[in-house]
Parts: sequence; structure tokens; C-alpha cells
Amino acid sequence: MATYLIRHTPRLSGEVEVSTAKNAVLPILAAGLLTEDPLIIKDVPRITDVDMLLQILRDCGAEVVRSGSDVSVCALQTQSPNHEENIRKLRASILILGPILARSGSACVGLPGGCAIGQRPIDLHVKGLQALGAQVHPIGGKMQLSGRLTGTRIYLDLPSVGATENLMMAATLAEGKTTLENAAKEPEIVDLANCLNQMGAKITGAGTGTVTIIGVERLHGTVYHPIPDRVEAGTLLCAAAITEGSILVRGACAEHLRSLLFKLTETGVGIKETQVGIRITGSAVSPFELRTLAYPGFPTDMQAPMTVVALKCHGTSMLHETVFENRFMHVGELARLGAHIRVENNVALVEGGHVLRGGVMRSTDLRAGASMMLAGMIAQGESILQDPAGHIERGYQNLPEKLRLIGADIERIEDYPS
Ligand code: EPZ
Repeated sequence: MATYLIRHTPRLSGEVEVSTAKNAVLPILAAGLLTEDPLIIKDVPRITDVDMLLQILRDCGAEVVRSGSDVSVCALQTQSPNHEENIRKLRASILILGPILARSGSACVGLPGGCAIGQRPIDLHVKGLQALGAQVHPIGGKMQLSGRLTGTRIYLDLPSVGATENLMMAATLAEGKTTLENAAKEPEIVDLANCLNQMGAKITGAGTGTVTIIGVERLHGTVYHPIPDRVEAGTLLCAAAITEGSILVRGACAEHLRSLLFKLTETGVGIKETQVGIRITGSAVSPFELRTLAYPGFPTDMQAPMTVVALKCHGTSMLHETVFENRFMHVGELARLGAHIRVENNVALVEGGHVLRGGVMRSTDLRAGASMMLAGMIAQGESILQDPAGHIERGYQNLPEKLRLIGADIERIEDYPS
């Protein structure tokens, strides 16, 4: 059980390095199942979501070796995973479905779990694979799919990140041409397509709403360095925006964070894009309105950290969550510090400018947990953040250490009574 003691932090300053993107690395690791050659991924973050997926890949028959910060995945043959526990815990486990089916002609995978932020169905994944020719036989909580895949035209009802990734991977080995319409445009989609093309795939249009994949006989191995983590970078920028000071988030890609940078600028902070990253100065003071949307709209993963920024702004801010149905679980925990937030119909009205007092919070999901850590930094006195499920370590590599590096007073305490 991870527990953090967080003390009031008046100002942050200095430099901090952003890690490689969790949500780019996870689908790229799954792509390792598409070839019998080694796929080497550079600078893989040490987070438990990655550890869980590496276990799942081993269970699918791949040889997985981590050496330093690099990971090699070599799947001479692939099989459906036998163990359920990691599949249920990790939403990204669904991303092995397309590769195993495309490679071996059949796949039987348990339904994924993930954060409690919403029901998170996989209907778009399954419908797309059926359109590619797979027969689907649900067997007691598992998806059994079989059949040779043939390219076709698929329209996604929602620009689902995971469904776009799964179908793009499956289509690389399908017979003929596949077109994905209304596809997700996230930078992580482009990164996966770049890696697959380096492996010999023929993908065009990634990052636009329409992705075209011409199937090939086989893919080969490669060495690939995924993009920086835009959500970690955004979380660090929000940490700076709620305290006085000036920090440089080294390695952050401003192009991937346009909507967040504009929103932070609206609050009154100064943003400077440099050759080596993003520099932020000053403190958020002006209230704002935002609506989370698929990329390039405002990212849903940044809604919780921006709720804490709103707590610093003098006036009422409005945050409308349109992507997930249950992504305000941080609000109840922030209220324990005295935050004035009202949520109605997936819209949070945040009355900022009030003094927050230290209290005890419990992490509910990954990004909510990070927002609570930030809130502890602006509350008077000391706050405790309990994280029994280890959400923060699931998705952020050394977040407390990175915040300490720029002046935060956060320490992990072991024997805090639960
Ligand atoms: C990815 O999740 C990310 N996870 C999420 O980050 C991110 O919040 C999300 O995309 C949106 O950007 C990874 O990349 C591992 P979706 P994913 O499919 O693929 C509905 C984090 O904190 N939907 O784009 O699961 C779904 O319910 C995590 O790092 C269907 O209805 O997201 C949701 O309302 C949290 N049917 C919406 O689409 C489907 O078949 C967006 O989901 C699939 C999705």
C-alpha cells in the first residue's frame, strides 16, 4: 500500500525530465506479438502498467527481456494468455487481441478491467475485428475470435483510441486494404503507426480521421523510441501552475499539448516553448472553462489535474467531462481539503481561491490520484494521500521524486495505518 505525506509547497523551480509515454509504449509492446523477430523498445518507463503487460506478453508466448531501460519482445509464436488476473487489471490488455488474431488466426482473451472511470466497453474493438472477418464466440467472460482477416472499410462510431490501435495492428497482416474511418487522432496513434511502418507495415493517414492499412505477409523486428508522455508533462505543468515559480519540463513536446497550453495561458501563467522542452512561469489566477474531447480537443486525462488548477483561480471555473461517464471521483477527495466543487451532469463547477487545509485523501484512479498529490501541495499544513491500489505508480514513473526535484515536499511513508 503506497501512502504519501505531502506538505504545503509555496513554489516550484528547476528542471524535470519527462518519461516516455505510457499510452504509446503499451500498444507498441503489444505490436511485438505481430512478428517472430525481436521488437526492441527504447526508454520504457518503469511503471506497473508496463510490468503487467510484459507478464501478459510472456503468457502469450513471447520472450520478454528488460535490459536497463530497453525492452525486447520476441514472439516466435503467439498463443492466447492463460492467466486472467493481469488481463482483468489492465485496460490495455485488450490490445493483444488484434495482434494474436492476425498472427495466429484465433484468439481467446478475457474482458479487460482498468480504472473505475467508466464502463469502458470493447464493442468497437469486436465489431471492427468482425468486419475484418473474425467469428466471435463469447465464452464466459472471455472473447473467443477466429478466422483469417480480410481488409475492409470500417467506420468507428466513436474515435476510440484503443479500438483504432487494435484494428490498425490487426489490419497490418490482413489480406488486402483496410480503411478506418472516424479513427482516433491521438499522438500515440501516430507513434504506433510509425513503429508498425518501421516493422514493414504499410499504414498511411495516422493522425487524421482516416487511416489506410495495406496488409502484408509478415512484419519484421525493429528498434523504436516512443514519444514523450504528454499527460505526465501536463501534470508537471499543472503542478507549476498552482505554485509560484518557474520550471522547465525537459523533453515535453508542445505540439502534443496545444489545447492544454492554451488553457493554462488563459489562467494567466506564462508558457515558453524551447528547443529542449516547455518552460512555465507564474501562477494560475483566472478562472476558465473547458470541455474534454478526443484529440486534438482537450485531453480527458488532464481533466483531474486541471480541476486542481481551477482551485487556485479566483472565481468559478467549469470543467465538462464528455469522454468518460465517471471521471470526477477526485472531487469527493478534494472536498476533504475544503475544496468547493459542485458536479452536475458531468460538469464540475469549481469555486477557486479558497484556502485548502491539509487532510487525508484516498486515490480512486490514476489521474485522480495525481491530482490529489497536487492538491496536497497547495493545502495548508500536511496532507496524506493513501494509494492502496498503487494507481500513481501504475502510470507515472517516479512522480513524487520528480516533484521533489523541483521543490515539492512529498515523501512516501510506509507504515501509515490504513
Ligand atoms: C485510452 O483509453 C487511454 N489509455 C486512456 O488513458 C485515455 O483516457 C483514453 O484513451 C481517451 O483518450 C491507454 O491508451 C492505455 P477510448 P481507451 O477507447 O482506449 C468508449 C490514462 O489515464 N468506448 O478512446 O480505453 C469508452 O467507454 C488512461 O492513461 C466504447 O464505447 O479509451 C469511452 O467513453 C485512462 N466502446 C470512450 O469510448 C469501445 O469499444 C473513449 O474510450 C471503446 C471505447
